[in-house]
Amino acid sequence: MKSFIKKIAVITSGGDSPGMNAAIRAVVRAASYYKLECIGVYRGYQGLIEGDFIKMDARSVHHIIQKGGTILKSARSEEFRTLEGRKKAYDHIVKESIDALVIIGGDGSFTGGMIFQKEFNFPVIGIPGTIDNDIFGTDVTIGYDTALNNAIEVIDKIRDTASSHNRLFFVEVMGRDAGFIALNSGLGAGAEEILIPEENLGLERLLISLEHSRRSGKTSSIVVVAEGDKSGKNVYELATYVEENLPEYEVRVSVLGHMQRGGSPSCFDRVLASRMGVKAVELLLDGKSNIMVGIKNNIMETVELEHAIKEHHSINKEILRISEILTT
Ligand code: F6P
Repeated sequence: MKSFIKKIAVITSGGDSPGMNAAIRAVVRAASYYKLECIGVYRGYQGLIEGDFIKMDARSVHHIIQKGGTILKSARSEEFRTLEGRKKAYDHIVKESIDALVIIGGDGSFTGGMIFQKEFNFPVIGIPGTIDNDIFGTDVTIGYDTALNNAIEVIDKIRDTASSHNRLFFVEVMGRDAGFIALNSGLGAGAEEILIPEENLGLERLLISLEHSRRSGKTSSIVVVAEGDKSGKNVYELATYVEENLPEYEVRVSVLGHMQRGGSPSCFDRVLASRMGVKAVELLLDGKSNIMVGIKNNIMETVELEHAIKEHHSINKEILRISEILTT
């Protein structure tokens, strides 16, 4: 491949996700394979603004494929939202003679990358890394599969204690704006109800369903609630609401929180990250920019960053229907 790209930089930005290290490794090793220099940027865009760089080669990413988090650290940079901040970042890029940037992150990170690309006509490419799976243009994002497995492992444990005490548990899982984690971990853990932002069925229906469960002989239940659920009540208020309206239920709440984002990535996430990392480098060498690497039906695809950010990744409503059938 003939290309003007001789030196690339890689950053991880926004909320970390398991598999980001595997993606860093893939980018660095692919760069080495194609005889490119590679720079790692610490702390996402903030590190770019401060010139917090490290030279990376094939050996600097050994034994990280199995590690959770990101060795480059991550941040949500307020300064990068300003032109002044982005100008500082660009100055460091010029000083280091970096020709292109690989951004591993979510939609907020891609928005920053797209603005940066337009302002300075500088090649950027995105790799979707977020547990939320809320990015258009890819079936799955890096970290989502691991987060699901983390979630069901805990929900299974909650099931044990819920069952012993004949209790109803509300379990909040992550997903600020999207219900992917709730929907799939809910089905995977056999939750009686799943509340997600994409499908607000109302509180009345929740009471009817729980009452129906109780009458049908269920002595304990689990309701999985997405963090971004739009019922109008947070998970604690939901619990109180149900206790007040269905006093026969003894209710507890469990918020899973950041444990979902940690831990060793699943094999699926490692493979996905490896494929996406190599593809990102090859696309840059092909002269492509301002796009995100995605995967659709197990085939690597690309989407314009603008679409990845603006368009909506829809949930599969079939899963809600299946869940309903299986929890009767
Ligand atoms: O975007 C990933 C995510 O884990 C969301 O599910 C969650 O709302 C958010 O990040 C939490 O962000 P922070 O770690 O900055 O509190």
